[in-house]
Amino acid sequence: MMETISLTINNEVHTVLIETRQTLLSVLRDKLFLCGTKNGCNHGVCGACNVLVDGKAMRACLLLAITLQEREITTIEGLSENGELSLLQKAFASHQAFQCGFCTSGMLISATALLDHDSTPSISKIRHELGGNICRCTGYVQIIDAVKSVCEGKTDCT
Ligand code: FES
Ligand code: FES
Repeated sequence: MMETISLTINNEVHTVLIETRQTLLSVLRDKLFLCGTKNGCNHGVCGACNVLVDGKAMRACLLLAITLQEREITTIEGLSENGELSLLQKAFASHQAFQCGFCTSGMLISATALLDHDSTPSISKIRHELGGNICRCTGYVQIIDAVKSVCEGKTDCT
């Protein structure tokens, strides 16, 4: 069954015709071409599809788009402002916190949600909050260092 819905994504309202069973991940990538949100496992395991829903990091592959019409959704494309990367994005770059980059948008979303709620998390809290994001390349050290550097105001450090 098809239905037209409105979704607020990155402060913009998108009106889109979807199948009622369609996930947010599918709508983002296949209907709106916001392809920064990745499809890793499509089963809620890897975190590559994470987006912010009302400020909380959530798995877009597990959410039905039709249930999100009253919610504020932020994707990786919405983390920069006026073309300027967020501090966290800059820190990931300066710490070389990615290799293939497939996990990176989900990592950035999870870390953004963390720092929005706790600007000075401990290393163990950062590890815990990013524990649902799988990276097959980096070994996680640079990712943790990048997040920590933002807490300490040292985003340019490598
Ligand atoms: S694609 Fe959603 S958790 Fe892996
Ligand atoms: S950088 Fe390749 S999966 Fe994380």
